[in-house]
Amino acid sequence: MPLIDTEAAPRVNGSRVIFALDYASLREARIGAEAVASAVGMLKIGLELFVHAGPEALALGKQCDLPVFLDLKLHDIPETVERAVGRAAELGASILTVHATGGTTMLKRAVQRAARAKDDGAALTIAAVTVLTSLDDADLAGIGVSRTAGEHAVSLARLAQDAGVTAFVCSPHEARAMRDALGGEATLITPGVREGSAPKDDQKRVATATKAVEDGASWVVVGRPIRDAADPRATAERLTAEVAAALAGRASRSRAEARS
Ligand code: C5P
Repeated sequence: MPLIDTEAAPRVNGSRVIFALDYASLREARIGAEAVASAVGMLKIGLELFVHAGPEALALGKQCDLPVFLDLKLHDIPETVERAVGRAAELGASILTVHATGGTTMLKRAVQRAARAKDDGAALTIAAVTVLTSLDDADLAGIGVSRTAGEHAVSLARLAQDAGVTAFVCSPHEARAMRDALGGEATLITPGVREGSAPKDDQKRVATATKAVEDGASWVVVGRPIRDAADPRATAERLTAEVAAALAGRASRSRAEARS
């Protein structure tokens, strides 16, 4: 399996761990981010913090000298999404998520708007969310999807790739199938990362960071396991080291495969 080298965000300290700032206030988010800033590669601002603090939350990226992953999971008509992409680019986000289920036109317009923003100096990558890691096959059946979560995620990712998307959010369970389907250049971002015996919380399709990367992830997203740890910084450092070791292992396996 080829090692990805596409960068979805500027490499700051080499860490491929994205810390999800799922906090209720900007103050708590700042304390949480500053505690782990040197041990993670990106900060993720999701719905809770953005709804609470708005664009001000993106200043945390500059304060911590880290790129910002703006996880708004946009899903609306193409015009509305395109315009929101324009505003996110102005805010300096490095990655913005949209739902692949928004369809081809929405995805194309999001990608095209991000590309236009590059001409104005922004560096925004659109990432397509495939199937949420909190959903399993039974949940999908409940919303009328008869495919398995894995099949559905790969199919949505292919649709997004055809629309020009280069980064994809998926469960570690689909990472291998995604990597095989999308190729070595795709950026794969996997939330749903848990250490062996840790509580899964509301996540259903989880795996360890090592397994996620061995199977093809480029970045892992971690929220509660760092946020709620007794020592968040030590946990972030351990995860960063784990991901780095798994990426190095994957690179050497890939070189060995290329030689044989
Ligand atoms: O706390 P935990 O590590 O489960 O947090 C995972 C983060 O990743 C949350 O912020 C969640 O919104 C996000 N996410 C996810 N599944 C997706 C996309 C994003 O869990 N498919």
